[in-house]
Amino acid sequence: MSLIPMRPILDATDTYSYAQGAFNVNAVAQAQAVIEIHNLFRSPAILQGADLANGFMGGRKDFQNATVEDKKLGALNIARAVKQFAKDVPIPVALHLDHGRNLDSVKAAIDGGYTSVMIDGSSLPLEDNIALTREVVRYAHPLGVTVEGELGVLAGVEDHVFSETSTYTNPLTAIRFLKATKVDALAISYGTQHGANKGKNPKIRKEIAIAIKECMRHEGIQGVLVSHGSSTVPQNVVEAINKLGGDIQDAGGISIEQLVEVSHLGIGKINVDTDIRLAVTRNIREYFLEDTARQQEPSVKGVWDLLSANPKFFDPRQYMTPLMDTMMYGTLPSEAVAELMERVKRGVKEAVGTLIVQFGSVDKASKVRMRSLEEMADYYKQEGI
Ligand code: G3H
Ligand code: 13P
Ligand code: ZN
Repeated sequence: MSLIPMRPILDATDTYSYAQGAFNVNAVAQAQAVIEIHNLFRSPAILQGADLANGFMGGRKDFQNATVEDKKLGALNIARAVKQFAKDVPIPVALHLDHGRNLDSVKAAIDGGYTSVMIDGSSLPLEDNIALTREVVRYAHPLGVTVEGELGVLAGVEDHVFSETSTYTNPLTAIRFLKATKVDALAISYGTQHGANKGKNPKIRKEIAIAIKECMRHEGIQGVLVSHGSSTVPQNVVEAINKLGGDIQDAGGISIEQLVEVSHLGIGKINVDTDIRLAVTRNIREYFLEDTARQQEPSVKGVWDLLSANPKFFDPRQYMTPLMDTMMYGTLPSEAVAELMERVKRGVKEAVGTLIVQFGSVDKASKVRMRSLEEMADYYKQEGI
């Protein structure tokens, strides 16, 4: 099936009261694994490439310094892979830009073939965030492309109270933001945090999501709320990494019980990246330690050298750089590389499969009202958004 915009997939979560996981990918094999596991569970799929993922997939090992040109190439590479794997399955698949930094990043993603974009203006003053987000909506909606904005800052680990210093999303401001920008989805700050160190038993302030969603209904505003920084950081995986020579300390995630609860309260999209990185890292360490001769196999030796020298690494982009062609294009130059990438895929499937069952998107592929980019463009035009 061709890629569709993210909006129809989000609409189904609203109608049927569940959440859709949105999973970050940084390699062709990861995209393949995410689509295969969603297909197995007959779930719609949202794959996302972060701005920096596009930089990495554009060939930049130092992806933090990627240029717009690198991101254009990377977006094209990710989109090509996602389209190729989506074409053969009957489930709806959307490709979403995660944490787009500016209009250039958004344009690079859409030109490459992304069907949905996030513009993250959350670090800007409110009026600037609104202006930037509105500019992106004006660019994307005529093309049928879905837009996610962000309001509030995903910050520290403390249980902030409502105060002038709170970084949590203010529900009143959220309504203003939604009306002014006309985004399809809004990422909120309500107690989650990016990365593997979310603090001890982090607590989601679910009342923030409830308040925003309730006001949206009163005001007739459509759209879903998005939970970023929502990895569960499974302790068994962290422990396994550390037993296999890794060094990941103070790791902790969001409990699955809280995520399940908010999936019925207006959170329609739950972003997960770290859980995938961790499962993949454990599998790669296992691969090299199950049979230590593999550590000297020329086609994969570079990966082991990086990983063994850096026990704290758990982002595959940090240690898979000796295999850039494989990451970017899916090439498998040797049996060892093929085996290694199989371990990557298994890690992705373990993390993603566990979560989509919990989030409730299993068997929902048939519930999505399929709408193409062109149909969404017509819809936005009619609605004047
Ligand atoms: O929310 C952020 C994602 O985990 C992506 O991370 O910006 O390092 O690609 P990244
Ligand atoms: P995690 O780091 O918790 O996986 O969050 C991912 C995310 O929010 C991507 O946008
Ligand atoms: Zn995020």
